[in-house]
Amino acid sequence: MNLLFCGDVVGRAGRKIVTENLARIKAENKIDFTIVNCDNASGGFGVNRSAAQEILNAGADVLTGGDHIWDQKEITSFINDFKRLLRPANFPKSCPGVGVGIFHTADNRKVLVIHLLGQVFTKYHVSCPFEEAQQLIETQVLKKDVDAIFVDFHAEATSEKMAMGKFLDGKVSAVIGSHTHIPTADCHIMKNGTAYQTDAGMCGDYDSVIGMEKTVPLRMFLEKRKFARMEPAQGEATLCATIVEIDDATGLAKKISPIKFGGILK
Ligand SMILES: [Fe+2]
Ligand SMILES: [Fe+2]
Repeated sequence: MNLLFCGDVVGRAGRKIVTENLARIKAENKIDFTIVNCDNASGGFGVNRSAAQEILNAGADVLTGGDHIWDQKEITSFINDFKRLLRPANFPKSCPGVGVGIFHTADNRKVLVIHLLGQVFTKYHVSCPFEEAQQLIETQVLKKDVDAIFVDFHAEATSEKMAMGKFLDGKVSAVIGSHTHIPTADCHIMKNGTAYQTDAGMCGDYDSVIGMEKTVPLRMFLEKRKFARMEPAQGEATLCATIVEIDDATGLAKKISPIKFGGILK
């Protein structure tokens, strides 16, 4: 099974490169299942109904969110209807939406997608992502209950992400990080067979500060104060994604390959 994960979509430029190229990338790489992180898809902050629908229509099987999941006011009115849009699983159960789901490929293989938020340097007091992951993989066991398990760990600290990789090595197909918007050069298969990358990067304009038009964040760093709302950069985006080839016999990874398309990072 070939699985594709696209890093955080940022603004209109990010949506454009994903929606215009997803079908081709899927066909060229014989992708069976696609997950797209939509943390910043609408105006750079969260995802609204129309953007979520647009990316699903373009060929995503599942959308994940992140720390910006609650930023769009309308999210709480539609997330329960969008069964293919996940918020981090370690928010309280009373929050709208869910953070985990079993989905099916076109040929009916089962993919468990788990979306978790880190605790280090993140503003929300979510529950422990390690305990949450442990509970989830005890409920759904790789190759016994599902054919593949994909974890999108949305976190700031590289150490927390790497620790999650080691924690889940051999128990899930892939642990790939999101949130920092910078693709890391550490794609590898760990000792017990799980594919790992600290961060897939973003689908957005890299002539920016992590996807945002650079003038405002730069001035914020210079003047040490907030003075204007940040807007997504609107130049040509780079699509940063990662492909994981999964061994159908074991559910573990055979290969992990990052891809970059378009914009200044290609
Ligand atoms: Fe994020
Ligand atoms: Fe993000």
